[in-house]
Amino acid sequence: MIERDVVIIGAGVTGLTAANRLVAEGKSVAVLEARDRVGGRTWTNDIEGVTLEIGGQWVSPDQTALLETLDELGLETYDRYREGSSVYIDEHGTRTEYTGDIFPLPEASAAEIERLVTVVDEYVAKVDPARPWETPGAAALDETSFRAWLHTLSDDRVATDNVELFIAGAMLTKPAHAFSALQALLMAASAGSFTNLVDADFILDKRVVGGMQQVSQRLAARLGDDVHLNAPVRTLCWDDEGVVALADGGIEVRARQALVAVPPPLYSRISYEPPLPRRQHQLHQHLSMGFVIKVHAVYDRPFWRGAGLSGTAFSPYELVHEAYDNTSYGEEQGTLVGFVSDVHADDAFALSAEERKARVLASLAHYYGDEALRPVVYYESDWGTEEWTRGAYAASFDLGGLVRYGADQRAAVGPIRFASSDLAGHGYQHVDGAVRMGREAAAEILAALPQPAVQ
Ligand code: FDA
Repeated sequence: MIERDVVIIGAGVTGLTAANRLVAEGKSVAVLEARDRVGGRTWTNDIEGVTLEIGGQWVSPDQTALLETLDELGLETYDRYREGSSVYIDEHGTRTEYTGDIFPLPEASAAEIERLVTVVDEYVAKVDPARPWETPGAAALDETSFRAWLHTLSDDRVATDNVELFIAGAMLTKPAHAFSALQALLMAASAGSFTNLVDADFILDKRVVGGMQQVSQRLAARLGDDVHLNAPVRTLCWDDEGVVALADGGIEVRARQALVAVPPPLYSRISYEPPLPRRQHQLHQHLSMGFVIKVHAVYDRPFWRGAGLSGTAFSPYELVHEAYDNTSYGEEQGTLVGFVSDVHADDAFALSAEERKARVLASLAHYYGDEALRPVVYYESDWGTEEWTRGAYAASFDLGGLVRYGADQRAAVGPIRFASSDLAGHGYQHVDGAVRMGREAAAEILAALPQPAVQ
């Protein structure tokens, strides 16, 4: 039996940040990780000789907690390539190259998008991302789907299709009828404003030299043997005195406090003895993962740059709804990354691997021309098949869930706490939110641990 002050379940950025903070305060920890690697939803891997970011990768300027961590770990960032024109494809399949932030749409729809962004920004300004359920009018906003709400704001369907995409396909990776207007406002508030969220140059600003997974690798290296891989926690026995975590490989950790730092839909993979209270049993069922395929297509050179294209491409009407130049730092090949989201991802996985690849590449070719049909490496990040994640990017509540359950999502149950980027306010669903959650959970645990007697 291993004895520690705190047992942490999950060696993603949340769990490892909390562990480092606790150790810095003189506490002992054991981190139990199900996979054979650390990093969770960040994973920098070599695929056929090319370094690819299989999971989280971009950093935006407001993500100060992550920027501080990068700095502290000695990790550098570089700009996403964005020189030249972007590409937009409209509902008729017409392809247009453009510069600036505004999609090349008929004047009325372009103006309507600008108006909608301003209106949504006004709502977002009233949302505290740490307590969205306290927003004025929260109940009504949480019982209306994002799509239905947008349709009350505008009857210009081209405008609403585009505005919808910024949060549905591009962020929560659920169809816009499946989550509430309040959930959408939380997503925008977590990035500071809707204007920030719709600005690719802001939200997808920088990448980490050498890859985002290094954050977890470096945090884990500081913990040495206190990180146990291949150790999925199956049972958490608890009472007011503390917990005993039972993991595969016969690992048993007794601790005063536990932090469950796994995606919320996986909470119920752990058996709690005694069972969690009914509130947790209920609320955990209302948080579900979005679903997106991150597609990587590597070419012997970034051919689009020669044609004056930045690699940035959007269309609510394409299988690949957004795509970017994702060439890694110092690499000679060119990499495009594209995203296939929610119901389109379901449909794509109903096809054979060959057919899916052909459809995805055809969509990239609509944006960049026929050269896009011939990558030297093609890879699909499929987080839906990952047992210890089960979707991407993160979890969100169903309609009404934020108001009904949100205030209790981080409530401690005896010595057990819950934290992950899925429960963050600022940085929600992002690595930055994981850092913030890890810090917050560590502070709460420190306050809950018995204080040393004063001499
Ligand atoms: P995370 O899921 O990373 O960690 C949880 C850990 O718990 C995992 O290692 C898991 O194996 C482990 N675990 C689960 N059950 C367990 C059990 N029973 N016992 C032990 N261990 C268990 N963010 C961003 O900022 N910029 C971006 O560009 C992107 N893009 C992006 C793309 C893709 C494809 C994905 C999947 C995600 C992103 N994200 C992102 C989101 C970002 O990666 C994510 O929000 C954080 O990495 C989540 O960190 P956490 O530590 O909270 O959970």
